[in-house]
Amino acid sequence: MEKILVLDFGGQYNQLIARRVRDLGVFAEIVPYSRITAAEIKERAYSGIIFTGGPNSVYDSSSPHCDRDVLETGIPVLGICYGAQLIAYLCGGEVSGAETSSEYGKTVLRTEKSVITEGVPEESTCWMSHTDYISRVPNGFTAVAHTDKCPCAAMSDGSGKIHAVQFHPEVTHTEYGMKILGNFLFSVCGCAGDWKAESYTSEIIERYCSELNGKNVLLALSGGVDSSVAALLLHRAVGDRLKCVFVDHGLLRKGEADFVENTFQKDLGDSFIRVDASSRFLKRLAGVTEPEKKRRIIGEEFIRVFEEEAKKLGQIDVLAQGTIYPDVIESGKGDSAVIKSHHNVGGLPESIGFTMIAEPLRDLFKDEVRKVGAVLGLPSELVWRQPFPGPGLAVRIIGEITEEKLEILRDADAVFREEITGAEPQHIPDQYFAVLTDSRSVGVMGDARTYGYVIALRAVTTDDFMTAEWTRLPYEVLERASSRITNEVKGVSRVVYDISSKPPATVEWE
Ligand code: XMP
Repeated sequence: MEKILVLDFGGQYNQLIARRVRDLGVFAEIVPYSRITAAEIKERAYSGIIFTGGPNSVYDSSSPHCDRDVLETGIPVLGICYGAQLIAYLCGGEVSGAETSSEYGKTVLRTEKSVITEGVPEESTCWMSHTDYISRVPNGFTAVAHTDKCPCAAMSDGSGKIHAVQFHPEVTHTEYGMKILGNFLFSVCGCAGDWKAESYTSEIIERYCSELNGKNVLLALSGGVDSSVAALLLHRAVGDRLKCVFVDHGLLRKGEADFVENTFQKDLGDSFIRVDASSRFLKRLAGVTEPEKKRRIIGEEFIRVFEEEAKKLGQIDVLAQGTIYPDVIESGKGDSAVIKSHHNVGGLPESIGFTMIAEPLRDLFKDEVRKVGAVLGLPSELVWRQPFPGPGLAVRIIGEITEEKLEILRDADAVFREEITGAEPQHIPDQYFAVLTDSRSVGVMGDARTYGYVIALRAVTTDDFMTAEWTRLPYEVLERASSRITNEVKGVSRVVYDISSKPPATVEWE
């Protein structure tokens, strides 16, 4: 399989570079610069290497440098931002730093004809973010683009194999960024660009079919997109030797457990096992009000239930997980297998006795996981599912959890979700749900005074859930949701809308 190495020097857009390359149909993997040698790069037969940006200056004693040998492997290289400066430095050019030549944001780029700028107009917009710049092009290189402040915004060497751009082609603000990346992949590296969802779906299935030959595999299925896609892939690979345990802890949304069961029983048959553990979870949560304690109890109980189910199944050789590529990168463990500290359930038990871990999604970004899901015929409600926390409604009921409160919250949340999914697509937030506050308030219904719970509605817009903006939902959607909840859900007298962003608030209330 043709693949590109994204050699990571610590820049903020490194994952984005890999994603863009993959969008162009070529597999890309990110490896920190210090964890791979020139010899290993050659051995792994990459079609091309991209040096990423990074926050340093090439002259800092602590700045990240790869070996110059990397440029002599004969494999084409494209340097971006810091990566471009590093190429200039390693090849004997000069990099200078001056506040007056720093550029940040959209900048006019002027290009000359070259293999890397093919199809880019003489004048276009690029995204710059640098202080240092290449002040003298190394011998054997030619500058092929400039900006008002940057005499060398792009350069190429005489062999046609080494190229560098000071700007960020991976950022959408660079008008012809994809064209430039495509020129590198297809004209310089000679890639075919045939890495597509259909092809990698069948590659993963084939790979696990042989790796898991004769082995029994166990997966904790949450109904979220990652574990669902992992389940379908592995089922295609090993059939009924896969067992998927779906633990209903009684803290799921309205109709969710049945929806998951109906969906998966159809596809997985005897591989799907639903465990109704709601009463034991609720018993352990009785009287508990402290948020962290609730989470701890749910995590522990989950492991216990999962272990008990695994024991009933007999010999398990392989534990499967829905780990995806950002988890692998962020764990800092590169390509060594790590047991994900499963934030859904607080760590899966090793006492089950498995000897191997299977992570069929470990090379894929979230959007690629969704594409695999679609290829495998997963219903779009599941493919496009908003995130749902492992501890479920327990972190959306403030204070003690009771059956009565769970029912009120389930009904209110279902109404809100219905109103949102009926709204225009551009008004659908990244995550939206109802919260049952621990407050009651006075209301009036007919001629009677009521004293019911206050429901809070929460909707956020976000890219990564690390930060989030509260969503400006249309008033009509809020009005319909509020009016329906107070009319249809017994025990609710008032509805409020949460207008806190993250930070300082978090997405969930607990
Ligand atoms: P917070 O509340 O931390 O949430 O701003 C950020 C995102 O993470 C989800 N979340 C969780 N997911 N287990 C999970 O699997 C958890 O314990 C958990 N807590 C929060 C939350 O729904 C949001 O998408």
